[in-house]
Amino acid sequence: MCFVVEGKAYVGGAVRYVSLLVEGGVIKSLRGRGEGCRVLQFSGRHLILPGFVDIHVHFRDWGLSHKETLAGGSAAALAGGVVAVLDMPNTRPHIRTAGLYARRLAEGSSLPILYGVHMGVPEDLGELEAARPGSVKIYPEDVAQFGWPHVERLLDRCRELGCTAVFHCEDPQYISGRRPPEAEARCADRAAVYARRGYRIHITHVSLPYTVEALRGLATLDATPHHLLLSSDRCSGPLCRVNPPLRSEDQRRRLLTLFLAGAVDMYATDHAPHALDEKLSGSPPPGICSLDVASSLLLRFWRDGLLGLDDVLRLYSFRPARFAGLDVSLRPGAPAAFSVFRLEEFAVSERDFRGTCRFSPLVGLRAFGRAVAVASRGVLRLLDTGEAVA
Ligand code: DOR
Ligand code: ZN
Repeated sequence: MCFVVEGKAYVGGAVRYVSLLVEGGVIKSLRGRGEGCRVLQFSGRHLILPGFVDIHVHFRDWGLSHKETLAGGSAAALAGGVVAVLDMPNTRPHIRTAGLYARRLAEGSSLPILYGVHMGVPEDLGELEAARPGSVKIYPEDVAQFGWPHVERLLDRCRELGCTAVFHCEDPQYISGRRPPEAEARCADRAAVYARRGYRIHITHVSLPYTVEALRGLATLDATPHHLLLSSDRCSGPLCRVNPPLRSEDQRRRLLTLFLAGAVDMYATDHAPHALDEKLSGSPPPGICSLDVASSLLLRFWRDGLLGLDDVLRLYSFRPARFAGLDVSLRPGAPAAFSVFRLEEFAVSERDFRGTCRFSPLVGLRAFGRAVAVASRGVLRLLDTGEAVA
């Protein structure tokens, strides 16, 4: 039950050569050898990184398994060097009770990656006491169904229980068929009021620079690869349909500038698979697949000198890990949750997708670094051969 991974790693703010000894799923040493342990050596073209953590994915299953499954979503995560995810509760049924919440976590516990889920808004807020979730996801549809006063009661409960309210921030009052920027902006204003009252709030998939400016320092924020890299000016077909929608090229550039300047806390995909025939139907459902390639799209900013490696890890590893209550550091005593990337440039293609969803408007974009091995849950998976080393 041990293995050693040798190669260049980013440890403590610098790249250095390590010999990571993993025993029983735990990093025992950065200079280890270990008796009788399998040794895997990676060349200078490779880099060992702390595992990426994605706090916004949709692994579906439960009535929606034609779109994605827990197993398929995990394969997509591994392809991108993602060792842990937080899933969304908009399954069928929607995860609004302690019973469903516990059942979903139990199903996720046997996946090859670490798995958690945001709880959905319960009608009976007593369910929160029973479930004790780390976070609750609030959709515009929840606001439309239950009203803002119910959300405010939920915020009170969450404060007592120590959970974070995660907003898909578009005020349903401003959504009428079209989803104009005002819907997000007015929700951001409201979220700022809540945050000033001391509630712990996270805004996921910010799509407007306005939202970042309104909430910076008050709430935590994440941005998706598609809102950072695609705009409605250039991407308009059914594959580009997503909520919140892609914004104008000008808004996208300003959001990206804020992101690169450190004004956004985290990077998260909102990997939201649908079947291709659904996307190509007369009424395509919103959602973009990206989990498999998200890390490579982020590492591109490092390659281009626009982010440091420390920024990349802060955005997609350390802060999301803290949010999810996980330790993904490369240090003795930490659970082995890391990835090995081959440092090469490539253009994203459909072949890079390993989950159920294998199409994306991100295809064709320039990317850097491919995951070739992922350590999580005590096992090192070699992605090229499918071999698992424990
Ligand atoms: O584009 C989206 N897709 N936005 C959402 O809020 C839901 C998600 C989904 O579940 O498909
Ligand atoms: Zn989502």
